[in-house]
Amino acid sequence: MTELSEKEIDRLVEAATTVRTRARAPYSGFAVGAAVLSADGCVHVGCNVENASYGLSVCAERHAVAAAVAAGTSGLSAVAVVTDSSPPASPCGACRQVLAEFGNFPVILANLAGARIVTSVGELLPNAFTPESFSKS
Ligand code: THU
Repeated sequence: MTELSEKEIDRLVEAATTVRTRARAPYSGFAVGAAVLSADGCVHVGCNVENASYGLSVCAERHAVAAAVAAGTSGLSAVAVVTDSSPPASPCGACRQVLAEFGNFPVILANLAGARIVTSVGELLPNAFTPESFSKS
């Protein structure tokens, strides 16, 4: 797994912080911003978008991944998630699975107070079910 520079971390946290302000979270009041770094060095962002039919709400991380895929990215190399939680909140189980589809890469958990935790997809979801799981024995 490649190490992220402080500059790359700053760039992702800043993008996730900005997109968090656009979150649509009228039901939970919990705004989340996510920014993924694609293999080609581009940053793609997403925020949570809630729905009156609560189960249809979509998390910030999955929106950021969808934006990266729609932009034609070939792979992901990092993600930052920004909330106003202390300690910084971690991706939900569904988002961990979606991130794991794209490999093991750094995950930065950050909050508005400036706290940052650098972890990884592999740490958040060990022994994940991935595309490699389809390999025959
Ligand atoms: N949420 C995210 O955007 N990402 C996560 O990983 C966890 C939860 C959103 C979903 C919902 O809009 C709000 O946070 C409260 O659960």
